[in-house]
Amino acid sequence: MRNFEYHNPTRLVFGKGEIARLTQLAPRDKKIMITFGGGSVRRNGVYEQVKQALAGFDTVEFWGIEPNPSVETVRKAVAMGREHGVGFLLAVGGGSVLDGTKLIASALATPEVDPWQIVLKGKADAALPYASVMTLPATGSEMNNGAVISRHETQEKYPFYTSYPQFSILDPQVTFTLPPEQIANGLTDVYAHILEQYMTTPGQSRLMDRWAEGMLMELIELAPKIRVNPHDYDLMADFMLVAAMALNDMIRMGVTEDWATHMIGHELTALHGIAHGASLAIVFPATLRVLREQKRGKLLQYAERVWKITQGSEEDRVEEAIVRTEEFFRSLGQKTRLSEVGIGDETIERIATRFNEAHVAYGEAHNVTGDVARKILLAAR
Ligand code: NZQ
Ligand code: ZN
Repeated sequence: MRNFEYHNPTRLVFGKGEIARLTQLAPRDKKIMITFGGGSVRRNGVYEQVKQALAGFDTVEFWGIEPNPSVETVRKAVAMGREHGVGFLLAVGGGSVLDGTKLIASALATPEVDPWQIVLKGKADAALPYASVMTLPATGSEMNNGAVISRHETQEKYPFYTSYPQFSILDPQVTFTLPPEQIANGLTDVYAHILEQYMTTPGQSRLMDRWAEGMLMELIELAPKIRVNPHDYDLMADFMLVAAMALNDMIRMGVTEDWATHMIGHELTALHGIAHGASLAIVFPATLRVLREQKRGKLLQYAERVWKITQGSEEDRVEEAIVRTEEFFRSLGQKTRLSEVGIGDETIERIATRFNEAHVAYGEAHNVTGDVARKILLAAR
């Protein structure tokens, strides 16, 4: 196990009716900017609950943080935040609203820097305090310090890191209005987050392995049940909790991580607007195929422990584990091939060239260059 430091300061407030806790948790001595997406919160009662809990607080609202939040939108919010002397931010919505808010909070604390420069640097030097009411189980953004921001002008999309949310309120009831494709994207994203931290090399930490495998098995068990009954409180509560736990530093203590699939997926989103979860369903099986030798030990462990594949040669078991992973994404309703979403070879070449020009080397072995990304995308055709 490698050395590590674990410090997740986000207060997680979970359960029915807990949005009302905003009254105690939000600061009374600061101007609060409440940020929203396109309006889903008006249709599911979340907006009303937030307004009621914050009655009497000094607030200003910013609407319109879009899915795959853009720096262009963030700049508008930053201008508004400056104008109003905002001192605290509350994101109300999905991962995109929260990620956008993370950049707004960071940019407001460093007025001399354009928000895109923060993204390019990969790290914010400071941030105003912020919190969230999370409405979509997927990204884990509610309990981590990462955010992913797009720039429409140049069709780019990159992650950056900042402070953690001060608190996040998760009421599983608010997920009842999620359309099926958002549930599918969320389940895919959470599964992919666990794989990115697990599917590297075996023997680094038994505890991390068992936690990750437990969460993967939980998702495999939950998915078909949620499909039949997306309004079951306990099912959605488990889904919401596993989403938060999958990317809150808990399952990556002392182990190497991959993240190449995410970086390639971000390119598909940046160039074609394809939803984040949908991009991962296409790229992950191909990453496993191309890197099967490097990941062989972990693929075999995953095959046995998660999918209960114990028969056949090593080669057969590795292959079956990859097939089962792709089938799992398909069972959620995802497409798993580039050809199914109309993405052709020009895009593959464009991504390979971008990666090669930027000299990237992703993955636990730092070997996913543009050339390897090309192989992965070709395997996803
Ligand atoms: O904009 P509104 O009207 O609110 O509607 C949203 C949006 O259209 C809707 N929605 C959210 N909650 C709802 C709901 N509709 C009905 N009922 C609800 N309860 O869902 C749509 C998608 O929302 P979005 O926030 O874009 O989805 P998600 O949470 O999957 O976030 C995706 C973004 O997060 C990034 C992705 O790259 C992408 O940009 N990620 C962030 C991470 C992080 N911060 O740690 C890690 C992830 O790997 C991911 O990269
Ligand atoms: Zn993700």
